[in-house]
Amino acid sequence: MIERLDWDSGFFGMGVGRLHAEALTPEVASRSYEWCRENRVTCLYFLGPEAAEVPPGFHMVDERVTLAWAAHPVAAPSPVVRPFVAADLPALEDIARQSHRDSRFHSDPLFDRARCDELYATWIRRSCQGLADSVLVATCAGLPAGYVACQNEAIGLIAVAGTAQGSGLGRQLVTAAQHYYQSRGAPSVTVVTQGRNRAARALYERCGFRVAGAQYWYHFHA
Ligand SMILES: CC(C)(COP(=O)(O)OP(=O)(O)OC[C@H]1O[C@@H](n2cnc3c(N)ncnc32)[C@H](O)[C@@H]1OP(=O)(O)O)[C@@H](O)C(=O)NCCC(=O)NCCS
Repeated sequence: MIERLDWDSGFFGMGVGRLHAEALTPEVASRSYEWCRENRVTCLYFLGPEAAEVPPGFHMVDERVTLAWAAHPVAAPSPVVRPFVAADLPALEDIARQSHRDSRFHSDPLFDRARCDELYATWIRRSCQGLADSVLVATCAGLPAGYVACQNEAIGLIAVAGTAQGSGLGRQLVTAAQHYYQSRGAPSVTVVTQGRNRAARALYERCGFRVAGAQYWYHFHA
C-alpha cells in the first residue's frame, strides 16, 4: 500500500514514497504518518479522488486532468515539425528546464526549484533516448523550438520555448502527434495536464481533445 520510490528519493535527495489507496481517509492518513516515520520518508505522494476532508500534513498540489481524442484522419503535419535528431538534445533539455513550472513539484515548497527544472530536462532526455516511442521536434528558423513525446497512445511531455509561444507551434506539435497515432491505427489518444495549466488545456481542446476525467495529487510532508 505504501512504497519507497528509490529513483525519486535519490534525485531529490530526500526520502520519497507513494501511497496507493482508494481514498484519503483518516485511517489511511494515520497509517501513512507511522510508515513515513519508520521509513524516513519526508514526502509521500498520493493520487486519487478529491478528499472530503484533507488530513493534517497532506496538501493538494495538483488537479490531474486527462483529456482524450477519438482518432480520425487529420491534416499531414507541417514541415516545421520533424522527428528528433541527436543534435537537438541540448536545446530540448534547455526548453524542458524552463517549461514545466505548473508541475506538482514546482507547486510544493519542499522541492528544490532547480531540481524540479532538472527533472524535466532528465525526462525529455530519457524520452529521446528510448523512453518514448517517438519525439517530434518543432523548429523555428531551423532551430529546435519545441517538442512532443509520444508514448503508449498518449502525448507525454510537450513544450514550446517561451520566445516561440503563441505562434501556432503547439498546435503543429499536437497535430503531428495525432497524425503519428492515427496513421499507426491507434483508436484514441490521451494526454494528462494540470488543471491550472490554462494554455495546455486550451491547446488540447483546440485540437479536438475532450476532458475524460480528473484526479488529485496530494503530497504528505512528514
Ligand atoms: C502549452 C503550450 C505547448 C502551447 O504552445 P503554443 O505554441 O504557445 O500554442 P499555440 O500558439 O499553438 O496555441 C494553440 C491554442 O492554444 C491556446 N493557447 C495557447 N496559449 C494560451 C494561453 N496562455 N492561454 C490561453 N490559451 C492559450 C490558444 O487558444 C490557441 O488556440 P488558437 O489557435 O485558436 O489561437 C505552451 O504554452 C507551453 O510550452 N507551455 C509550457 C509547457 C506546458 O505547459 N506543457 C504542457 C504540460 S502538460
